[in-house]
Amino acid sequence: MLSVIYISVADPLIGEQDIAALLVQARRNNQRDALTGALIFNGHNFLQLLEGPADKVDACLAVIRSDPRHSGMVEIRRRRIDDRAFAEWSMLYDPNFRGHDDSLSRLAASGRLDPQDALMMENFIALGRRRPQGAGTVD
Ligand SMILES: Cc1cc2nc3c(=O)[nH]c(=O)nc-3n(C[C@H](O)[C@H](O)[C@H](O)COP(=O)(O)O)c2cc1C
Repeated sequence: MLSVIYISVADPLIGEQDIAALLVQARRNNQRDALTGALIFNGHNFLQLLEGPADKVDACLAVIRSDPRHSGMVEIRRRRIDDRAFAEWSMLYDPNFRGHDDSLSRLAASGRLDPQDALMMENFIALGRRRPQGAGTVD
């Protein structure tokens, strides 16, 4: 399996309602394609992890890349995996993932993971240990 993390710049007009609609679409497709992952949004940037069968992950990323709801998508981590980090989440969304806005903006500007981003990445991946309740949005 493959796991990819990317960062992108959200369309400035995007709000929580648009994200709710996006998640309905994403979760439906991801269930069909055996994809799992997580998404966060800090008001400016999306950070998303997508994992599953390599061909499905890449096909989905190609579709996501051309989505006008964001731009400037940069992959910051791509690795082969044996175990999923978000096995129970067709797409976890945590609107309260806060405290890492500096890391997110720096990452969006540089497109490269720095040692300073380690804590954010750790906290991001740790979201996958939560158990889904209801719609899959953590609140
Ligand atoms: C930040 C972001 C994350 C997305 N994540 C996913 C995803 O995980 N899975 C997915 O199928 N579509 C995702 N999408 C939506 C796709 O770009 C595309 O609109 C959708 O897959 C089309 O679905 P449809 O063929 O059912 O109309 C995402 C879009 C954005 C902007």
